[in-house]
Amino acid sequence: MKKPVIAIDGFSSTGKSSISKIIADNLGIVHLDTGALYRGITWFALQNCLDDNDTINLEQLFSSFPLIDLQFKNDEGELVLYLNHINISKEIRSNEVSDNVSFIAKQKEVRDFLLQSQRNLAEKGGIIMDGRDIGTVVLPNADFKFFLTASIDERTKRRYQELLSLGIEADENLVRENLIARDKIDSEREIAPLTKADDAIIVDNTMLTKKETIETILSYLKK
Ligand code: DC
Repeated sequence: MKKPVIAIDGFSSTGKSSISKIIADNLGIVHLDTGALYRGITWFALQNCLDDNDTINLEQLFSSFPLIDLQFKNDEGELVLYLNHINISKEIRSNEVSDNVSFIAKQKEVRDFLLQSQRNLAEKGGIIMDGRDIGTVVLPNADFKFFLTASIDERTKRRYQELLSLGIEADENLVRENLIARDKIDSEREIAPLTKADDAIIVDNTMLTKKETIETILSYLKK
């Protein structure tokens, strides 16, 4: 029997990736955190494509695509992102990347560059992919689609704790501002904006623990 293709979209810091990973383990399918790919490209741009005034030169980035090799490797059960064979899993969570990733992710060239490889990974089934445009653009024919949301206060708290646990210095007010700014750019961009697919199930997990969110999603998958 073909294993399911599951799309998880939603706002920043609703727990999409960590929840998707546990569901993938539970169902014996692959998990792909597509946000990490956009973060990986942003990290590359910050390292290699800055103008004299320290802004990202988009033309330089676009012409550098052939030099970007992003791969997930399984590191003791964790999928870890490598850029040109270097582990960048910590770097992609830095404030510098978070502050620039939505600007990079709204570029058509960047989205086109990542689209086909995401689709190819889902061809054989057995995958849960989380992001912003998975149910609407990347995998419109997914077997299941979920849209995760939660209040801004709750999301700020979660993101702040995540940064601290990664040993990254953080200011709660700035975390909140970054989340609001990112959601605005992601939702209002012209190409593949963050929006609920018509056939996606909304899960508001403001009042739910991670375990309860997972149980809610699994209850739909097992129906
Ligand atoms: O899920 P995340 O916070 O790691 O995603 C980082 C950024 O990447 C987010 O601000 C929007 C963008 N993104 C996107 O545009 N499309 C996706 N499928 C996944 C992420």
